[in-house]
Amino acid sequence: MNEQRNSNGMGRRQFLQTGASCVASAIFMGLGGAQSFAAPNAGAGKNVVPLVTLNNGVQMPLLGLGTMTLKGYLGTRCVADAIALGYRLIDTATVYSSEPAVGAGIKQSGIKREEIFITSKLWKTDMGYEQAKKGFQTSLEKLGTDYLDLYLIHRPAGDVKGSWKAMEELYHQGRIKAIGVSNFEPARLADLIANNDVKPAVNQIETHAFFQEGKALEYLKQQGVQMEAWAPFAEGRHRLFTNATLATIGKKYNKTVAQVCLRWHYQRGIVAIPRSSQKTHIAENVNIFDFSLEDSDMAAIATLDLNTTQFPEWS
Ligand SMILES: NC(=O)c1ccc[n+]([C@@H]2O[C@H](COP(=O)([O-])OP(=O)(O)OC[C@H]3O[C@@H](n4cnc5c(N)ncnc54)[C@H](OP(=O)(O)O)[C@@H]3O)[C@@H](O)[C@H]2O)c1
Repeated sequence: MNEQRNSNGMGRRQFLQTGASCVASAIFMGLGGAQSFAAPNAGAGKNVVPLVTLNNGVQMPLLGLGTMTLKGYLGTRCVADAIALGYRLIDTATVYSSEPAVGAGIKQSGIKREEIFITSKLWKTDMGYEQAKKGFQTSLEKLGTDYLDLYLIHRPAGDVKGSWKAMEELYHQGRIKAIGVSNFEPARLADLIANNDVKPAVNQIETHAFFQEGKALEYLKQQGVQMEAWAPFAEGRHRLFTNATLATIGKKYNKTVAQVCLRWHYQRGIVAIPRSSQKTHIAENVNIFDFSLEDSDMAAIATLDLNTTQFPEWS
């Protein structure tokens, strides 16, 4: 395993060394947890997003493109645009049917596969040891790649144990660089950690200004499991994009509500994967690394927490 990790790590280091020397960002000094952070590269065509080091040494961008609903030509264009704008993390899943578009967009971008971080997810109909291996293989074929950077159990349903065993094997074979979960409550995650060899590297959960998941964040940091936010804009629900508190903060820095939200995730040390079908929004969403929210801004955003899902239909 160490050998595989070393050879994977080498690729990542080369990726990092194309930019400025790696220094931990002052923003994260007080965050604690097992993860560490590296500075982004600057310039057109290069990664512009800081990286976080996961609990197995793999480095993951702290911001990426979500691709739910982004299929076909539209998906391909969005992925290629995002990569040209400096994104390197693309989030997809079997159930989104966006894997072929993601694969095509990466090819169209002209950026080498090893410089892109691809996440996909095992859907609930593919749960179980044998099915998980087949599901993984199908994802690879649709994406046109021979490995994944991160593979997640999409939902804690069905045969989690058998699926995780299959994912551990694929991980040990070097066919997945990091394995993790999505939509796991802390208790469910604790059970998985206690009963298996490989600790999940990531838990991707609903997190946004109206559902801040502070306790989950604390727990994941204690465990050294990276938190990743799905629906970082709550898909605009609860009128997020016109929220007065977020808009007022944005005005202070000449930034949009979307940028305030993403900066807030970043300053909490959470990976965010906003989805957009518009190049202007894709560009806007990655332009968050030139300002900092003050403590008073973070405190004001904390008051927006409704502490409940905005997606009850998925619970
Ligand atoms: N693991 C899970 O169970 C799970 C569940 C849901 C989602 N996800 C992942 O998380 C990703 C993000 O979540 P999401 O797609 O549900 O929603 P989201 O990212 O919270 O919101 C997407 C919406 O925000 C709009 N938007 C994006 N940037 C904007 C900007 N700068 N200004 C104004 N509007 C903007 C988009 O419209 P435009 O297209 O017009 O820009 C779109 O309608 C998904 O795509 C998927 O990859 C995972």
